[in-house]
Amino acid sequence: MTCSHCRGADEFFDPGTARDDLESYRRSGPSRQTRALLEAIRALSLNPATLLDIGGGIGAIQHDLLQAGVQTAVQVDAAQAYLNASQSEATRQGHADRVTYLHGDFVTLADQVAAADVVTLDRVICCYPDVAALVRLSSERAARIYGVVFPLDGWWMRLGIHVLNLAFWLQRNPFRTFVHPTAEVDRITRENGLERRFYRRMGLWQVIVYARP
Ligand SMILES: C[S@@+](CC[C@H](N)C(=O)[O-])C[C@H]1O[C@@H](n2cnc3c(N)ncnc32)[C@H](O)[C@@H]1O
Repeated sequence: MTCSHCRGADEFFDPGTARDDLESYRRSGPSRQTRALLEAIRALSLNPATLLDIGGGIGAIQHDLLQAGVQTAVQVDAAQAYLNASQSEATRQGHADRVTYLHGDFVTLADQVAAADVVTLDRVICCYPDVAALVRLSSERAARIYGVVFPLDGWWMRLGIHVLNLAFWLQRNPFRTFVHPTAEVDRITRENGLERRFYRRMGLWQVIVYARP
């Protein structure tokens, strides 16, 4: 992987983190924010057939949507440990043969990734420095629905992220987190022809779903 930031993500989201997240998912299901995102996507009643899940982690979104009628999914993820955990859960739920796994930085790999009816980035925008490239390339690939979860952009959030990044720096891990302006994510997504259909603030996070008119 060429991007040093993504090498950091691969290191940070290690097999131990992936195992813990998978156990938590098997015990309690998706997080509150992921559940809200899934409900908003299903509420659009667009019967999507394909999913592109960028940074899907242990695959909570794809496991749910593949059970709900989506036929095939692609997961692009910078962390190999998460891809392994996601595949192991897909095998357990009986749909691994309908998922394609791609390891690496989505922005670098975007040329090789086809459009899908639904594109999701659940807590991924805050893991990437170049928000413009990530949002432009991912929203371009959303044929019908684009769903994102990312942090609110208040000053207190920026302060918290600085502290977190200091900890990464002290650990000599190149991975960093970011608070990108909501207005920029919104502008790029709308420029790509999508309309906002759902918005909810949930703690430190915001859940937004866009659709093509
Ligand atoms: C905080 S985790 C979120 C995982 C999962 N979506 C969730 O909400 O539990 C961030 C995920 O984004 C992935 N990621 C970050 N930047 C990425 C990029 N440029 N391309 C692909 N995956 C990326 C990481 O590897 C990780 O799986």
